[in-house]
Amino acid sequence: MRIDIITVLPELLESPLNHSIIKRAIDKGLVEINIVNLRDFTTDKRRTVDDYQYGGNAGMVMMVEPIDKAISSLKSQRDYDEIIYTSPDGELFNQKQANMLSTKKNIIILCGHYKGIDHRVREHLITKELSIGDYVLTGGELAAAVIADSVVRLIPGAMTDELSALEDCFQDNLLAPPIYTRPANYKGWKVPDVLLSGNDALIKKWQEEQAYERTKQLRPNLLD
Ligand code: ADE
Repeated sequence: MRIDIITVLPELLESPLNHSIIKRAIDKGLVEINIVNLRDFTTDKRRTVDDYQYGGNAGMVMMVEPIDKAISSLKSQRDYDEIIYTSPDGELFNQKQANMLSTKKNIIILCGHYKGIDHRVREHLITKELSIGDYVLTGGELAAAVIADSVVRLIPGAMTDELSALEDCFQDNLLAPPIYTRPANYKGWKVPDVLLSGNDALIKKWQEEQAYERTKQLRPNLLD
């Protein structure tokens, strides 16, 4: 898989995508993450990517031309399955979307900034708009990092124990059951007896019940 992330702040994305499972997936050749500096597609000396909006409202708008040039340059080198724009008014990103994106070959993520982007980009170039939650971030870089992280870890081979991706929270619309490690008793705070019983069937049944109960209590909307 290849992920191209177009941004005006490349530095913001270098560290979050260079550790742990993501770094291992890159090192194993399972994914290539390429950070594209939008300013490389400007033509003026100041490398301008934004301008005042028509209509007189406050706030700068990202211009169509550098974005079109950046996307066209990438598209001239390979086909893309999805061109995503990160924005608070996009579709809410969830595990289902992460699963779906992890099966794609090439995707572009365009990070929004300032007041937004010229609407013609959304009309003519973008295939999917994603929000990571109902709050406004300074820019789309952190959202792009969240999306890339959650997608890359799902690529087969990215995790040492592949089963663990299947057991993740949300994979079956349920929260994960509580988990514990040693010691079995810390200051009188005990690990549930069933987990120490060695009875696999009983443990599985307990975990399923707990997953359901936790979901009902904490995120009942997932059960709808
Ligand atoms: N850009 C600003 N806020 C955002 C959000 N909540 N999700 C995705 N991109 C954003």
